[in-house]
Amino acid sequence: MIAILIALAWQNAAVPPAGEEPVAPYERADANAGATPFRGDAMWQAFGGAAGVHAIVDDLVSTNTADPRITDIFKNRDLVRLRRTLFEQFCYILDGGCHYSGQTMAQSHKDMGIQQADMAALVENLQAAMRRHHVPMAAQNRLLAKLAPMHREIVAR
Ligand code: HEM
Repeated sequence: MIAILIALAWQNAAVPPAGEEPVAPYERADANAGATPFRGDAMWQAFGGAAGVHAIVDDLVSTNTADPRITDIFKNRDLVRLRRTLFEQFCYILDGGCHYSGQTMAQSHKDMGIQQADMAALVENLQAAMRRHHVPMAAQNRLLAKLAPMHREIVAR
């Protein structure tokens, strides 16, 4: 009961998690993650569990912000929030036992003018991050297949 009250208070709080900027209210739901999760432990283990996924997300965010092809898109963005919500999204999709508390892919990328080439650069950076953290190729490809359809919501038309 207390846990439920704390969760509700957190959901409605005007104060964002430590280090993050406030965000206009929106409805939280795992469906916002934009993909149905895998079932079972195999994918989560292939990614090295929580430590592995944190390392991959941190690597991906730093690589993206330093990548001259897409660095401008990440300027003045809340990277603390991005690391947290991206971790939650991957953890949720990989069946690591997380809930996703971020916005939908359409909401979170609107008005950024993201092009197909930007998407390709990000996917390339994700592949490099997964490789550096020793995710087996088959598991890399299975995650990429879950993310691929999201381009419909992310790439500007
Ligand atoms: C399948 C591909 C992608 C996934 C899974 C993804 C995932 C996410 C997630 C979970 C968030 C945070 C949502 C929130 O804060 O509520 C986010 C935000 C963001 N994404 Fe992506 N993204 C993808 C593609 C891209 C691409 C291609 C770019 C640009 C090259 C990009 C740039 C950003 C930026 C700058 C933010 C921060 C928005 C802000 O806080 O102002 N994303 N993305």
